[in-house]
Amino acid sequence: MIIVKTIEALQEAKKTLSGDIGFVPTMGALHQGHLSLIQQARRENEHLIVSIFVNPTQFGENEDLDAYPRKDDADIKICTVAKVDILFMPEISVMYEDDELSIGAPARRGYVLEGEKRPGHFDGMVQVVMKLLNLSSASNAYFGKKDAQQLALISQMVKNYFMPVNIVACEIVRDEMGLALSSRNVYLNEEEKVRALSLSSSLKAATKLVMAGEKNVEVIKKEMLNVLDLADEVEYVAIVDRTFSALKEVEIGNSIILVAAKVGKPRLLDNIWI
Ligand code: PAJ
Repeated sequence: MIIVKTIEALQEAKKTLSGDIGFVPTMGALHQGHLSLIQQARRENEHLIVSIFVNPTQFGENEDLDAYPRKDDADIKICTVAKVDILFMPEISVMYEDDELSIGAPARRGYVLEGEKRPGHFDGMVQVVMKLLNLSSASNAYFGKKDAQQLALISQMVKNYFMPVNIVACEIVRDEMGLALSSRNVYLNEEEKVRALSLSSSLKAATKLVMAGEKNVEVIKKEMLNVLDLADEVEYVAIVDRTFSALKEVEIGNSIILVAAKVGKPRLLDNIWI
């Protein structure tokens, strides 16, 4: 594995590759969720690039940029074992200059749910993902359904800007109890971990209702909120179609049920595609 920190070194390292490149962008503190993307990309491409970059432009002023978990040494080991060809770990100054032109999230779908709770988050996210996708020259780029709105916006960006890359949506990885893995789970103590299970439980309750024939979004959301009583603060429960337009009735095969809630310090996200 080659570790590169500059654009020049990345371009030089890419010259040694011929054939399809798979790409997995991350912010590090790698866990089994990231690893599943990396392993899928490894299987489906001749070459594999992973990036680790904690992107400052997607963090709000009161968010956890400085406290965001960093585990470079462990991450490098994980990528080596996973047979990554190139690991790109740039500093902020490599990725950004002063007074940049910028793309932003779409006005409607980029400013609801996560976009509403984290103003500016998706502007910074699409900005860095466009840079990273361009730098990677990847044929296939892998993103988790865990961040469903992020995935939808990236797919839209690639379509709107005619970017020559295929976006691959990867399944959510959970722990044995059902908690969706996240770098932020390290902030949960044992008691909070148990209460955090209310997110996945609320999705299970919603799925059960849908399977029993319930389609009404308000009825399903109410049931989810009952289960989410154990969370400290529910930020939203929502049911949208696969492009993130709100639904009144669940459409099987085209719906995503989402929840965002605080348990202890971290905000946790989970969702299920129905
Ligand atoms: P990060 O949170 O590090 O996540 C990197 C990728 O791993 C994302 O595509 C995310 O959806 C996926 N992922 C995280 N937890 C997962 C889980 N439990 N199961 C499946 N996939 C999971 O998302 C980002 O970084 C950043 O916004 C980034 C796209 C790198 C841009 O800065």
